[in-house]
Amino acid sequence: MLKPLNLAHTPTPIHRLNRISERWNGEIWIKRDDMTGAGLAGNKVRKLEYLLADAQAGKADTVITCGGVQSNHCRATALACAGLGLHCELLLRGDPPSEIEGNLLLDHLSGAGLHFIPGERYYDNLSGELARLATEVKARGGSPYIIPEGGSNAVGAWGYVEALRETRRQCRGLGLDPVRIVCATGSGGTHAGLLVGARLEGWDVEVVSITVSYDHDETVLRILEIADSMIDRYRLNIRVVRGDIHVIDDYIGDGYAKAGRDVLDVIAEMASCEGVVVDPVYTGKAALGIRGELAKDGMEGATLFWHTGGIYGLFAFRDAFFEKSEG
Ligand SMILES: Cc1ncc(COP(=O)(O)O)c(C=O)c1O
Repeated sequence: MLKPLNLAHTPTPIHRLNRISERWNGEIWIKRDDMTGAGLAGNKVRKLEYLLADAQAGKADTVITCGGVQSNHCRATALACAGLGLHCELLLRGDPPSEIEGNLLLDHLSGAGLHFIPGERYYDNLSGELARLATEVKARGGSPYIIPEGGSNAVGAWGYVEALRETRRQCRGLGLDPVRIVCATGSGGTHAGLLVGARLEGWDVEVVSITVSYDHDETVLRILEIADSMIDRYRLNIRVVRGDIHVIDDYIGDGYAKAGRDVLDVIAEMASCEGVVVDPVYTGKAALGIRGELAKDGMEGATLFWHTGGIYGLFAFRDAFFEKSEG
């Protein structure tokens, strides 16, 4: 097993959300992976501890990765590379925006190469575009290492196996026995790592995704593929089947990176009741999901809300908070 780099500030705290528990009529605790670092804040840094160790082990000098213009993964990768003296090239989905803010501002400051490509080209031929960048890096004498979207492969997701182990130790210390962990899910590596970790630990905690981009079936498939590739790569003596993967796709709203008034309200509620900042793309939708499922009486027992970060993305939504709602 690869020895990970030490990039994240761990263990991240776990605490009870007292006022939100009372307001939402539930038993809600939070795992603060928004506190894994400052520039490197959020879930991606746990994956990068493994991915960048792998890059260094292979003597790469340039890391190539991809995501949306406000990708937390791209920002964390760019800053982590800068801290390690590696070059970084980012393939960003969409046109260059007129305002450089949030994660994109940090991408700029990190010195990473930024390559904007239209959404259609990105979705149609992502692996081709990544390979093209790798060829360019090689042509100038560099040695590239490609990280897939969200850092979600067997190597990166191992960060969440370790995170699960860390959490189990903390829960034991706190006398906390959560029925479920709830996280926001995009590319699926976080969920896959947590699920594989729970299986390896023999911990009977359910992992529940509130998906923010792909629908239920597509998300289940992605998580299953990552879990299977971990099982293969590390020869794990566990089995994960489709039915083990719990995904809720009722809170995507108008789509990825689109936040309705309900999401903005939950962000304000978390900030004002608990001093916890969630974001409009990922963790705000997970919080909305927890509130929604509790309102349906769908979640008995203690819930551990896994806060995966995203704070810099919030700043790109500044104006939305002050827009008047229609009607
Ligand atoms: C803040 C935040 N939360 C959750 C996720 C989803 O994690 P995963 O891609 O592992 O499903 C991401 C991914 O970009 C993220 O940036």
